[in-house]
Amino acid sequence: MNLTNENHFMTQITATTKNPTQSPLQAEENTAREHYFGKYGGRYVPELLIPALDELEKAYTEAKQSPTFKKKLEQLLRDFGGRPTPLIYAENLSNHLGHAKIYLKNEGLLHTGAHKLNNAIGQALLTKQMGKTEVIAETGAGQHGLATAAICAKLNLRCKIFMGTLDIKRQYPNVYNMKLMGAEIIPVADGNCTLKDAVNAAMKYWIEHLATSHYLIGSALGPAPFPRIVRDFQAIIGTETRKTILEREKRLPSHVVACAGGGSNALGMFTAFLTDANVELIAVEAGGSDTTPGNHAARMLKPDIGIAQGYKSFFLQNPDGQLMDTHSISAGLDYPGIAPELAYFAEQGRIQFLRASDDDCLTGYKLLSLHEGIVPALETAHAISKLPHIVNHIKKNTQQEALIIVNLSGRGDKDLFIAAPHINPDDWTQFLKTHLPKT
Ligand SMILES: Cc1ncc(COP(=O)(O)O)c(C=O)c1O
Repeated sequence: MNLTNENHFMTQITATTKNPTQSPLQAEENTAREHYFGKYGGRYVPELLIPALDELEKAYTEAKQSPTFKKKLEQLLRDFGGRPTPLIYAENLSNHLGHAKIYLKNEGLLHTGAHKLNNAIGQALLTKQMGKTEVIAETGAGQHGLATAAICAKLNLRCKIFMGTLDIKRQYPNVYNMKLMGAEIIPVADGNCTLKDAVNAAMKYWIEHLATSHYLIGSALGPAPFPRIVRDFQAIIGTETRKTILEREKRLPSHVVACAGGGSNALGMFTAFLTDANVELIAVEAGGSDTTPGNHAARMLKPDIGIAQGYKSFFLQNPDGQLMDTHSISAGLDYPGIAPELAYFAEQGRIQFLRASDDDCLTGYKLLSLHEGIVPALETAHAISKLPHIVNHIKKNTQQEALIIVNLSGRGDKDLFIAAPHINPDDWTQFLKTHLPKT
């Protein structure tokens, strides 16, 4: 068992160093292969976009070999972001559930409140390196938008955030903060006015402004090289976690759990453990209100291969291949596609998928708040809510105490307006009556 794992971003350097003996055709084939994870991924985009994707790939390859880039990235992650984030022993929750020692990697303590900043910092630095002056981004829960707005303010980059009008309403605290940081919010009123519609609008704008703009994609998806770039910038989560758990417990975890929207926090956590065959990797999707099409965002319920928004993966789609509307109580998990790398590892059986409903999510939200004094983001609460199920399963199948790590992808401040009416409807109604100005 390999118990050491270097920083993933830097280990890529050796993997991508050019081989001087390969022919141009071989080099092209190798690059094309790097665009896929098995049969998933690729670059299904209008020809117009290829030069911009090539430019990004070149900038990223150079960045990986640049000590200056690495130094700037590390500095910003530490001084602006607050890394490393803590790995907390959840003693009360462990005692409550029994038979398992549970640890929480608290990405909610990263500046702006979620893991999204890891990737936003990395890609903002790439934007600077490419000499571009504007960043555009899509956002659902607003956490990626907020992280992008923050790093753009810090690095003096112009920032436009595309956001569905439904998400603007349900994640207002993030919208307010993004504007305060100087970002322009572009409301998207197409489709069901959520994340997939924001991605379409951002992609359209990018095609029209390639010379000056970088599209800072927020999850490990989209056309190559985005899925690898986002995964690599997020891999610091798992790298830190692996090192700390080995120091504290002198063993690897038995289970690692994360929620999965597009897939960036899950891959960020799982990548460091992929080759450890005894570590079970569990991703939790949004089961929504029920399993009727349109009422959930569980791509793995009936995995259906398709091509959309520049890549091949599993999508919730109609028989014509059009993306379906979805539903989840959490704005960050209601995307109809999934990271091509997650699709690949699901097919390989390396990553298991569970579903948490909206009701489960609220149960997880209360469970963590009550036992550990941490209010999780609703996205994260999906992962928490499956812990009783996972622990019960372990109890039935093994005598040994399990060691479970959950990636707390974000904190719950942004979700007040969604959660409060469910958790304490009378208090909330009273609060609104008393404090909202009459119109
Ligand atoms: C706190 C939090 N967790 C998870 C997600 C889902 O994204 P991903 O699957 O890319 O980590 C989001 C998306 O906005 C989020 O805000």
